[in-house]
Amino acid sequence: MKQQELLGIDVGGSGIKGAIIDLETGELRSERFRVATPSPAKPALVAVAFKEVVEQFKWKGPIGCGFPAVIREGVALTAANIDPQWIGTNAAQLLGKATGCEVYISNDADLAGLAEMRYGVGRGKNGTVILITIGSGLGSALFINGRMVPNTELGHLFLKNSKQIAERYAADSARKREDLSWEEWGTRFNKYLQHLERLFSPSLFILGGRGSKKIDSYREVLTLKTEVIPAQMRNNAGIIGAAIFAAESQGLEV
Ligand code: BGC
Repeated sequence: MKQQELLGIDVGGSGIKGAIIDLETGELRSERFRVATPSPAKPALVAVAFKEVVEQFKWKGPIGCGFPAVIREGVALTAANIDPQWIGTNAAQLLGKATGCEVYISNDADLAGLAEMRYGVGRGKNGTVILITIGSGLGSALFINGRMVPNTELGHLFLKNSKQIAERYAADSARKREDLSWEEWGTRFNKYLQHLERLFSPSLFILGGRGSKKIDSYREVLTLKTEVIPAQMRNNAGIIGAAIFAAESQGLEV
């Protein structure tokens, strides 16, 4: 049977967003619904907020979920922008139990990348493609000839002469925390992309997450040799990718 639609949910450092996704076109079939990520973002509290999103859609089927951590077989292995209690937690099981639905979970940036490679600006792009999501953290997705290398965590690289990881310096949260203009922030982000450029010689950078919506405010300070384009699905890529992932994990034709 060909499943037509699926609920995709993106758990972020500041919001939990969901929408019903058309698996054929990758488009949203419902309004996007968002609740704030509880603070502290402990597993039990996030599970309650996640359930609220699911109930909003009166959803009963499988759910795809992007999560801001390294995820292996449903288990969170890191927690940079979420409570440390998540480390070692089987997130798929916990959220599955909270909602009574089958939950398929993977790293949020990987899923945003999956959506863009499947339906968006990465479609048909070969070579090394890197997607960076700009939000509370810097998420990364790496594709080699269309195949994903999961859990790359390139937001955690150290930049030259810096004692902190790149996302402390160049995520959208750093812009807000330090009250930077888009241009000031863009100059930092450019340094970060230059570092990635030296390491990977990619053929394309795709920018996702909320910071990608503002690309026109900092495009001019980007001085890379590599082409840089915003994700076609902007902030929705994570939700869309989550739905694709759940469908594919079940062996459904998408
Ligand atoms: C996390 C990543 C995540 C990114 C974006 C980082 O802090 O380590 O796993 O993809 O934030 O949410």
